[in-house]
Amino acid sequence: MVALFLSDIDRGDWWAREMTARLPDLDVRVWPDAGDLADIEYAIVWKPPPGLLSRMPKLRAILSLGAGVDHIFADPDCPPEVPVCRVVDQELTGRMTEYVLLSVLSYHRQVPTYRAQQQRRVWQHQHQISARERSVGLLGLGVLGQAAATQLVALDFTVSGWSRGPKRLDGVHCYHGAEGLAPFLAASDILVCLLPLTGETENILDRKLFAQLPQGANLINVARGGHLVESDLLAALESGQLAHATLDVLRAEPPADDHPFWAHPQITLTPHVASISDPRSVADQIAENIRRARAGEALLNQVDPARGY
Ligand code: NAP
Ligand code: GLV
Repeated sequence: MVALFLSDIDRGDWWAREMTARLPDLDVRVWPDAGDLADIEYAIVWKPPPGLLSRMPKLRAILSLGAGVDHIFADPDCPPEVPVCRVVDQELTGRMTEYVLLSVLSYHRQVPTYRAQQQRRVWQHQHQISARERSVGLLGLGVLGQAAATQLVALDFTVSGWSRGPKRLDGVHCYHGAEGLAPFLAASDILVCLLPLTGETENILDRKLFAQLPQGANLINVARGGHLVESDLLAALESGQLAHATLDVLRAEPPADDHPFWAHPQITLTPHVASISDPRSVADQIAENIRRARAGEALLNQVDPARGY
């Protein structure tokens, strides 16, 4: 039983140890030491080079190292008959919730304004509204969006969410579909993007969308860089339509040295760390999926390639 582990950002030796602790007869080969690709039955991957997966004739499952699978479907030669699974994991969900709460609370308590005041040596109170007067909108009400929404409701924020299909969630104003987008945006002082990157959602964070937010809104993008039209964000910050943006993800990671986001006073960047898969918990479901694939059982968290998430 042979698996290939491939990721430029994760520690292959640690993952291989966690995998063999769960499946002692698994031969885990860490890229680029893949040996003969014809041996590989399971590909545990983050951003595989295009064309690589199609060179594994025995492949039985493609197991994403993250919640998103856009990095797999970006390969036009991804073998269509092989199931693709994503990560759904309590630890990953908890870390994302922490990041969203941290960023929302920072905007709610006006941290960017006080940082700017400090730089000018200004000691001045700003009027503070209560959490229930602050509306937070979540684009995406899936596993991560719902978890963040629940905690924001617990902190007494006014919370809305937008999804593809209809949803009911305690304390959350739920909108869906194209017709639900405008009223959802109009009610979002702080907009959090937690959508998967698909043909339908690419470039969704654009000038047209920003214009439908309340003036001076804040943006938190923790989904994918491909959701954001970067030049439209710069224009919206310049005009005051948006006050500030927190970006954990970018189209090119890392951005070029001369990228305007690096030094922009209204942008906070983090290097795609909102929620990183921890092998100590995520290896459980990857091992379970390998066991299931071997036994011919239904896989956990298998995605629908037609939907793209
Ligand atoms: P999920 O459970 O699949 O939820 C996706 C949500 O987006 C669902 O509510 C879905 O609607 C909605 N959606 C999809 N396409 C839509 C469309 N065209 N219009 C409206 N709503 C749409 O995904 P998740 O586990 O919450 O993860 C979301 C994304 O977070 C991942 O795909 C990944 O890109 C990103 N992520 C980032 C990090 C990081 O560290 N920055 C970490 C983990 C994940 P329905 O409910 O109606 O299907
Ligand atoms: C991280 O970006 C993930 O998709 O889990």
